[in-house]
Amino acid sequence: MASITKFLAALAVFLPIVYGAPTQAANALHPEILAAMKRDLGLDAEQAHVRVARELKATEIIEQLKTSTGSSFGGAWLVDGELNVAVTDEALTSEVSAAGATPVVVSNDLSKLQEAKAALDKLDIDATLGRKREESGIASYYVDVAANKLILEALSGSTSQAADLAKQVGLVESEFEVKVVDSMPTTFVTVRGGDAYLINRSARCSVGFSVTGGFVSAGHCGTTGNTASTTSGTTIGTFAGSVFPGSGDYSYIRGTSGNTYSGTVNNYSGGSIAISGSTATAVGGSICRSGSTTGVFCGSVRALGATVRYSQGSVTGLTQTNVCAEPGDSGGSWYSGSQAQGVTSGGSGDCTSGGTTYFQPVNEILSAYGLTLARG
Ligand SMILES: *[C@@H]1O[C@H](CO)[C@@H](O)[C@H](O)[C@H]1NC(C)=O
Ligand SMILES: *[C@@H]1O[C@H](CO)[C@@H](O)[C@H](O)[C@H]1NC(C)=O
Repeated sequence: MASITKFLAALAVFLPIVYGAPTQAANALHPEILAAMKRDLGLDAEQAHVRVARELKATEIIEQLKTSTGSSFGGAWLVDGELNVAVTDEALTSEVSAAGATPVVVSNDLSKLQEAKAALDKLDIDATLGRKREESGIASYYVDVAANKLILEALSGSTSQAADLAKQVGLVESEFEVKVVDSMPTTFVTVRGGDAYLINRSARCSVGFSVTGGFVSAGHCGTTGNTASTTSGTTIGTFAGSVFPGSGDYSYIRGTSGNTYSGTVNNYSGGSIAISGSTATAVGGSICRSGSTTGVFCGSVRALGATVRYSQGSVTGLTQTNVCAEPGDSGGSWYSGSQAQGVTSGGSGDCTSGGTTYFQPVNEILSAYGLTLARG
């Protein structure tokens, strides 16, 4: 208990430095933070307080050593709360130890690595490689102080291009490392029924329903291998399967990881409708749909199992309704109460004069690809 008291005192001293103003709760971590640190870092409350106090103290030691070791400073990093400080000059290790850190002697100048990284920032990588960002395969690059190298992360097909880039900014083999990553980074997106998405960043459709790891939509929206993105161009997935015309009008878009596939549908009045299942309604049943062109419209089911003769060919197994829809609503969600029904295929008319719209039943899509509907 004596040591925790000491560290809590240290925490109280250092917090004002970090946050710029004294705080009464300086020595207490919020219970939710403590719970998350226990879950993710395996630290109990006392260990968490000790860890945070030591890491705050470390930032002070780093600043002090950065100044005192000058151009020999090679970077600093924490390992389970223990501070390591790299220097290029062996004579400075005792100074590092005296400050309370573990010295590590490295050979590459930190400033050279940082300058190379800055040079990459200035370089138009896509133009240099003659490829678009998503085809360049260069995912990220950063100085790894513990490795004492510039790291370039690249897809497996782009490792030699990554090495060429490192050499182009003046690094030799011992100063950089290329690491292979599985996918290009994307920002995280919440995918929801009824929302717009783009196919190959041009044509627009609507999301039908989220499933585990992706979403379903109409088959005429895209073919296998096409890219699905948000309207602002962030990739959200790739068409993994698509049927149109013939036995249906449906597709499965396998989503990129990191996105949230929400079991809800846009209600186009500032909220969402939670989906709780996919029990199909009978002929005459009331039904609504959400789509990115016209929002929400409702009506009733007129016929099940209709064959519809589109110019591209006939499609069997569609449900006919008296609900209107327009281009861009395609692929969007149909629901009865909270039960998912299907995705918009096509029809006639519009939402000004009224229309007939067909939808592809959702249960056939789920069973065709073995998917599980996301519930909200
Ligand atoms: C979408 O892009 C892929 C890959 O570039 C291409 O093969 C496909 O033909 C494109 N599809 C459409 C509908 O433009
Ligand atoms: C849509 O959701 C919002 C927010 O929950 C709610 O206030 C609104 O009444 C809903 N509108 C419709 C038409 O369901």
